[in-house]
Amino acid sequence: MDPAAAALNASVHFDRRLLRDDVRGSQAQARMLAAVGLITAADAEAIVAGLERVAQEIASGERALDPALEDIHMNVETRLIELIGEAGRRLHTARSRNDQVATDLKLYARRAAVEIVAGIDRARLELCRQARRHAETLLPGYTHLQRAQVVTLGHHLMAYAEMLGRDRGRFADAERRAAESPLGSGALAGTGLPIDRARTAAELSFSAGPTHNSLDAVSDRDFAAEIAFAAALMAVHLSRLGEELVLWSTSEFGFVRLGEGYCSGSSLMPQKRNPDIAELLRGKTGRAIGDLVALLTISKGLTLAYNKDLQETQEPLYDAIETAQLSLAVLPGLIAGLEFDVTRMASAADDPALGATDLAEELVRRGMPFRSAHELIGRLVRRAEERGVTLRELGPEELHTVDPALTPEVMQALDPHRAVAARTLPGGPAPDLVLAEVARLEAELRALGHAP
Ligand code: ARG
Repeated sequence: MDPAAAALNASVHFDRRLLRDDVRGSQAQARMLAAVGLITAADAEAIVAGLERVAQEIASGERALDPALEDIHMNVETRLIELIGEAGRRLHTARSRNDQVATDLKLYARRAAVEIVAGIDRARLELCRQARRHAETLLPGYTHLQRAQVVTLGHHLMAYAEMLGRDRGRFADAERRAAESPLGSGALAGTGLPIDRARTAAELSFSAGPTHNSLDAVSDRDFAAEIAFAAALMAVHLSRLGEELVLWSTSEFGFVRLGEGYCSGSSLMPQKRNPDIAELLRGKTGRAIGDLVALLTISKGLTLAYNKDLQETQEPLYDAIETAQLSLAVLPGLIAGLEFDVTRMASAADDPALGATDLAEELVRRGMPFRSAHELIGRLVRRAEERGVTLRELGPEELHTVDPALTPEVMQALDPHRAVAARTLPGGPAPDLVLAEVARLEAELRALGHAP
């Protein structure tokens, strides 16, 4: 090849990540070839042992990968043949790099998905711990980033546990759908040699058995796109958490202090405590979404079956996975280290205007139509504003002149603790419910073996 063309064609600088899966796939192939009598048992043994040695040489750096050999598959096979000779030349029987790379990528992606799921569960466990600690901590809930109604911090934190729970489901689904083995699909059209596809599928833990269509199998990268989507959406969720931590750790909000290990100072301003890690959780979203868009764009309009464009799906897949892993690695410690300023939160939650809705609900409880209650409280809020006082500072006589329904007992609905404790329906923020949700999730995590 022309050197510039070879540089464009080579993938070994990124597909080196497939070393482990490539060797595993080839060992399964060799054992299967011997089992069906296409090679001898002695050759299979030599291949399996030889591959072990190749893997070790490459992984330890003892043997450098050669870009002239294009990809990881050719590097491994070439070295195997150097080491064991003739037997090595039999490994590629009834196989193409097309079904080989599809198999390797699926093995890699499934392995990564399982790790990511465990990482998500570690983060969910820390959310549970903080939520339990703060089941009763009050803070304003926001819509449009305007104070709306009082909620509990535990409830707020558990909202992220919900998002991450759905993310977990998406990774687990993607992993499950990738459980068919492409190995044995050949270049595109299978093989006339009597191989045993079910055997390699089983040995490689492809629990759904062999794929059903060779043309699809060698050109399918849906599993990569699915993982990239799960990663992109998780990054979106983490960006929301990151943004709230950035906002909450400002002096203006002052709701939270990030753990020492998750902040950085400024090289110029000695007083600075910058929330870099939270910002990067937010910032990594750009590349995660980019990886998904790249994968979909590369796959678009490809004729059946294999086209070399597919090699370009590898880097976005690796980047999506590695970015997700980086973020998940930092998340449990970041969450565990959050110190919430409960006093500051409580005083923000003490704004009586936040109780307006609860007050209207109290009037409804006593028989007033909701629209009338809404109007009445609206008038009350305006009056308080005009007089420059809070709802709570309006005296009993004044309340009575606005409407006789506004008795002192009714006005107790403005108490934030009472208001939150009353919202006990499923999905609500009441402390008892938060504790029940935490217990439910912890039990789920324990059943999965992801919580003590
Ligand atoms: N490195 C290639 C890829 O990632 C392996 C398959 C090459 N196949 C081929 N027919 N040139 O797609």
